[in-house]
Amino acid sequence: MPNILVVDDEKIICESLAMILASDGHAIDAAEDGLDALGRLSEKKYDLVITDMRMPRMDGMELLKTIQHQWGAQTPVILISAYANEAAVSMALDNGARDLIVKPFDIKTVCESVNYVLSHTAFPSVEELEKIQKEKIQNRQQEQETQKKILEYSVLDEIGKTVSASSGIEKIGSTIISMVQQIMDANYALLVIYQPDKSGYKYRCAYVNGQVAWVEPTVADEYVLEWLLKERRSLFVKDLSKDRDFSDGYPTGSLLAIPFMRKSQVLGALLLHNKDNSKPFKSDAMQFLSVTASMATAAIENTNLYNELGSYFNGTVKALISTIEAKDSYVWNHSSRVARYTSLFARNLKLNALEQRRLEYLAMLHDIGKIAVPERILRQKAKLNDWEKQILSTHVVVGENIVRSINFLPEGTKIIRAHHERFDGSGFPDGLKGDAIPLFARIISIANVFDKLTSDYPGFQTMDVNDAVEFMIRDAGKAFDPYLLNIFLTAFRKTGIRDF
Ligand SMILES: [Fe+2]
Repeated sequence: MPNILVVDDEKIICESLAMILASDGHAIDAAEDGLDALGRLSEKKYDLVITDMRMPRMDGMELLKTIQHQWGAQTPVILISAYANEAAVSMALDNGARDLIVKPFDIKTVCESVNYVLSHTAFPSVEELEKIQKEKIQNRQQEQETQKKILEYSVLDEIGKTVSASSGIEKIGSTIISMVQQIMDANYALLVIYQPDKSGYKYRCAYVNGQVAWVEPTVADEYVLEWLLKERRSLFVKDLSKDRDFSDGYPTGSLLAIPFMRKSQVLGALLLHNKDNSKPFKSDAMQFLSVTASMATAAIENTNLYNELGSYFNGTVKALISTIEAKDSYVWNHSSRVARYTSLFARNLKLNALEQRRLEYLAMLHDIGKIAVPERILRQKAKLNDWEKQILSTHVVVGENIVRSINFLPEGTKIIRAHHERFDGSGFPDGLKGDAIPLFARIISIANVFDKLTSDYPGFQTMDVNDAVEFMIRDAGKAFDPYLLNIFLTAFRKTGIRDF
């Protein structure tokens, strides 16, 4: 049985991959980042490592390079990335990755990639592979169960696609409940989503039996939901006729219920009842429901954030942006254009709707700290002296503090602070280098300089577009992330400056 190490700081990805691969006959261990993975690799031999690119402490590319250096081809690596295009694929392969899977991934792609890489390593031999295949067939449970697993995967796949498409909460709720009810063969299914509320838990919506219905749960349902809110764990009653706690509401059959948890908060819950005593839910159903619950949690959280973004835009962000406009027209027009240029990245990096919106707001707000810089310095066309430069440079820290109060931009403070960092580590205020600079800050930095070079911006000599492009190419790897600059310039050449 091949040993696979899955490395990702997102628990839901680890759990999904573990479930997919474990059922395909693989032994799975999980690590939360590159350093954790190296620790495990030093203790145990793995036939394959599957790692995400973006992780804290040590990212996927660095982990790949270290594995290549230390274990070579003996330990093949598959990378997972949300930002994959031709350049990313060739960079990954150049560094020794055996394959690159794009997020959000589907089950078929993962299985094909893993099986291909495992079957093309020096070990096991063809005979051993055949033996493994035979063992797999022998070990498989009845054909009916295999079919059910396949159906479970396709259900999870479908839910995953709905979630990653940033669909509305209604669509996600109805997809989950109708598919789960079908796969679990339940007579009764209830899914509730709670409205965040300081006074307690209020229903935002509820779905019964696969119907998009706005209903009040029954008294029996309420009893189970209250139990979930109190206990904060899943519930499985195999034989209700022998149970004292829940048999008043559900006298026969079996009952399954699971909360959708985000840290200590319950975002929603799913309840399934099968009244037929001869067809009780099986205990392994909980594994499937746990993955479903993780996906539902991610979906609800995304839509909550998305809605929050919308309401904040009409309030805090709009007010902040108008302060820039009132202060200085250069900064205002510049910020608007930088936001527009970042849309090129959003399209080419395939950011989802939520990330696009975050990036757009942060681009609009990147110079918000300039409200604390005297207008004389902001408008000065002549070269600034050292003292004036120092005053101007404080805008990144002032901006960071302003954005701290906007809680829908969790990484916003770091991005605003880092938008004048340079890829080679010679920027300010922290001298961050390479991937240590947040992705959105590297993007905004490119759009920022491009606009300053091509517009009438104080302190910058206006260039025509071709000269600006050449100027920026010369700074690739110094001021700018070369991979991102390439994306920007390629897209720019295709669309032309006026079509942004
Ligand atoms: Fe700036």
